[in-house]
Amino acid sequence: MATDAAAPAAEAPPAPAAADQDINPWSVQGGVDENGEVVAIDYKAISKKWSTSLIDDALLERFERVTGHKPHRWLRRGLFFSHRDFDRILTRYEHGDPFFLYTGRGPSTGSLHLGHTIPLQFTKWLQDVFDVPLVFMLTDDEKALFKEGLAFEDTLQYAMENARDIIALGYDQKKTFIYSDLKYLSNHFLMNAWEFSRLVTFNQVRGAFGFDGSSNIGKIFFPSVQCVAGFATSYPEIWSDTPSNVRTKEIAKIDCLIPMGIDQDPYFRLLRDNSHRMRYPSPKPALIHSKFLTALQGAGGKMSSSNPNSAIFMTDSGKQIKNKINKHAFSGGRATLEEHRELGGNPDVDVSYIYLTYFEEDDAKLAKIYDSYKKGEMLTGELKKLAIEVLQANVEEFQERRKAVTDEVLASFMKPRRLQWGGNPNPKPKPVPEPKKDKEVKAGEKDLPERQKK
Ligand code: TRP
Repeated sequence: MATDAAAPAAEAPPAPAAADQDINPWSVQGGVDENGEVVAIDYKAISKKWSTSLIDDALLERFERVTGHKPHRWLRRGLFFSHRDFDRILTRYEHGDPFFLYTGRGPSTGSLHLGHTIPLQFTKWLQDVFDVPLVFMLTDDEKALFKEGLAFEDTLQYAMENARDIIALGYDQKKTFIYSDLKYLSNHFLMNAWEFSRLVTFNQVRGAFGFDGSSNIGKIFFPSVQCVAGFATSYPEIWSDTPSNVRTKEIAKIDCLIPMGIDQDPYFRLLRDNSHRMRYPSPKPALIHSKFLTALQGAGGKMSSSNPNSAIFMTDSGKQIKNKINKHAFSGGRATLEEHRELGGNPDVDVSYIYLTYFEEDDAKLAKIYDSYKKGEMLTGELKKLAIEVLQANVEEFQERRKAVTDEVLASFMKPRRLQWGGNPNPKPKPVPEPKKDKEVKAGEKDLPERQKK
């Protein structure tokens, strides 16, 4: 971001073309090398810069032990690569303590592309594994505030279209509440948003999001809205059906896990820094971060709705998918057949191969493809064909399910209501706490190492 790019390079100033990668909630740019070439996004560098924890084998082993589920292929293959306090959520699950999932989508167009569906499909899987409530925020307010030329009516309509797509990904209606900010924000949610806004200064959001004196004031308030969606008190009706439900200390203690693309992390750092300062304090929501789905053109970009050739849309026909992959998918193959046979291809930069790593479940099959492409046995055309088949199947299946989303189904997901879920069927009893010596440790504090730093 600006601060890093501006850091003075005392001895050798970088060549004018070179630039650091720039990741923020509104744009994702890979770095540029001395030759002006865009380089792959360096996810380890983002994690380091923002002090997130990388997901390692030990965490995945613990996940499997605690949940009895094999980690999703996107965890095994590092597409979800980073987290904050995910281990604490596992502890909660282990003991049957309540928590919910929160994720969202900015409805900037009426149709999702494959890249959008990754965190959403993953969230659905988490919901199945943990058997917990999910709240799904559609930030139609955000998109109209940030995108010139989009009216609030437009983004609201996109939100409704997107909601149908989201439902088509297979969420369980009994456990899922989907809402449009423009329609739902009121009562406790709004009270939380205003209360939170009182805790955050303009200087803080300016630092986190790069606002300046000419930014509209909606943008400056909006982070408050996206943040407080991680408080259980924003949805009292989910947890109880007494009509007089209000924000309470008890509800505020329900924990939260937020799956997201890493670009959204700046919002939730703000949330985590302030959640204990609310009138009814909440734990710092736990976060799990994904990489971006590589654009068809290859490393350094992400699929983007504004560039139709960079993305596979969930409305694309089988034929369109085939053409896009054949024409636009960056290839790690060699210039000629002879060279390819002799020297082998480079699967690591090959977009068709990368897409297979997202959607091919079979680890052994994938390893075989990798080797044979690298050795030059498998040709680019063959690799593309495999990717096309997997993508076509995924998108077609989605389109079938989308047809089943009637107006009634949509309304049932978007109705504020009490949700029903099971949680951990066999929770482990909590260890009996050791007798306290000097100072009383507040309940739950042992789970919150960062809070102790404060
Ligand atoms: N701001 C996000 C976007 O533009 C939408 C969003 C809201 C979100 N809340 C979220 C994404 C929580 C991930 C997690 O897409």
